[in-house]
Amino acid sequence: MEKTVSVWMATCEPVAYAGLTDNIETDICVVGAGIAGLTTAYLLLKEGRKVVVIESRHIGAGQTQRTTAHLVNAHDDFYSEIEKIHGEAGIRVAAESHTAAIARIEKIVQDEQIVCDFRRIPGYLFCPPGQSNDILDKELDAATRAGIAGLEIVGRVPVASFDTGKALRYPNQGEFHPLKYLTRLAEIIQAVGGKIYTGTAIKKAKDGARVTIETENGPKITANAAVIATNTPVNDMYAIHTKQAPYLTYAIGCPIAKGTFPSALMWDMESPYHYVRTQPLNENQDLLIVGGEDHKAGQADDQEARHDRLEAWARERFPAMEPVKYRWSGMVMETTDGGAFIGKNPGEKNVYIATGDSGMGMTHGTIAGLLLTDLICGRENSWASFYDPSRKPIAGKAIRKFMSENMNVGWEYLKDWTSFGDRPDVEHLENDQGTVVRRGFQMVAVYRNSKGNLHEHSAVCPHLGCIVHWNNLEKVWDCPCHGSRFDADGKVCCGPAISPLKLLPTTEK
Ligand SMILES: Cc1cc2nc3c(=O)[nH]c(=O)nc-3n(C[C@H](O)[C@H](O)[C@H](O)COP(=O)(O)OP(=O)(O)OC[C@H]3O[C@@H](n4cnc5c(N)ncnc54)[C@H](O)[C@@H]3O)c2cc1C
Ligand code: FES
Repeated sequence: MEKTVSVWMATCEPVAYAGLTDNIETDICVVGAGIAGLTTAYLLLKEGRKVVVIESRHIGAGQTQRTTAHLVNAHDDFYSEIEKIHGEAGIRVAAESHTAAIARIEKIVQDEQIVCDFRRIPGYLFCPPGQSNDILDKELDAATRAGIAGLEIVGRVPVASFDTGKALRYPNQGEFHPLKYLTRLAEIIQAVGGKIYTGTAIKKAKDGARVTIETENGPKITANAAVIATNTPVNDMYAIHTKQAPYLTYAIGCPIAKGTFPSALMWDMESPYHYVRTQPLNENQDLLIVGGEDHKAGQADDQEARHDRLEAWARERFPAMEPVKYRWSGMVMETTDGGAFIGKNPGEKNVYIATGDSGMGMTHGTIAGLLLTDLICGRENSWASFYDPSRKPIAGKAIRKFMSENMNVGWEYLKDWTSFGDRPDVEHLENDQGTVVRRGFQMVAVYRNSKGNLHEHSAVCPHLGCIVHWNNLEKVWDCPCHGSRFDADGKVCCGPAISPLKLLPTTEK
């Protein structure tokens, strides 16, 4: 599994339950115990439904433990931009749903007395040096049209050491400790009658009047409806994966004396952008969390340098920060039109999905809980068509993004299949490193373990046949096409692939 440890993982014990051993029947089966899956399970239980949750690893083991957990109704893709795709009616749905998601997290925290450092704080958007601030006025107008109240342009962000120039201030944003929230939510789900099985991966969800879910270890679940909340849907081969693209993003955490950095979220408009918040650490210190340096998954090999660049960026602006204590990375799924895909899996009757976080998965995951609960309970929801997974990229901007992401996939496929691999000299491969080499027509993912033995797998991703790339920071194989990830021994860390890289007989014992 991934090597780096986020501040959330370091400050919250992982929670796991027993795995599924027998065939079971239930009303709703939720797959994936991240924020999307557990929020959906919790809200369905509140409706009196019988719910089972299946998770391949442990609670929050996917991207929810690797997030930075800004809770915003500001839009990562900018209301001024997504209005060009969805119109004013669309941005009003986006703003209303993200606002409702923060409010729902706040309500759950209050109702269930969850200790997870939740607080309401302002957010600030600013431009990098040399860029015109006009874009802030444009965003202010669009976000106001979207229905967000109380926005204002201020002279700079409230940090003495960092003169950003003008910034757009969003009131009433939020932040929390995502794993403390999620692990408590899991306990509550169990306490009110929900069942959670961890260490249980699904292989298939077969739609029908009753949905059949097959697990890797054999037992099956039969349910009236299934919700696949595996971050990227493992039950879908093509439809969704052509409309979203996997990006890796990086974060560092550095202690800083309390009071040096305000309680606020900040993010800029550089490409790729930076995002900043704090998290209470101890009596005297907060942790300053700085993220950014995004790139398409499997398409960069300078992961460590990206953390260094993040640190240099932060140190120049926040010189009071102490040495870096945490470094981590994770994946976000960028959709072609800025909205997540939440609703019925295209072409199916009783299988639902929640995916396409677009870097806003804390709120999109909570929106999934609210929207899917309505859909499953047969209620109208005015957000449904905006988030419909069957929607097509119809506006010019979305079509261009759709074309460029899919041309990129085609290019990666061709380039890798006609190359000699990353670095053909396996003899010089250091311990705990990997590389891809060509042997005749075969592309081989070679990993030298900590004892010096070579582990060899086919480098062909079992999803749709692209060639995986070594990620030396996380010590995993990343697929550049749709984001499947495999550990050094070829086991699936995340989909859409559901089967491991094929082990080759040349592997040394
Ligand atoms: C560095 C970073 C910073 C981010 N910052 C923000 C932010 O500030 N604000 C924000 O809103 N979002 C942010 N995001 C995005 C957000 O963290 C994610 O979108 C969100 O956590 C995804 O939640 P999820 O429940 O959809 O998926 P996950 O948390 O990935 O949960 C999916 C679960 O499904 C399980 N699973 C996978 N396959 C199977 C299978 N076959 N069978 C059973 N279980 C399976 C996984 O183990 C996992 O636990 C950030 C992400 C990263 C990486
Ligand atoms: S994730 Fe689709 S080919 Fe690898």
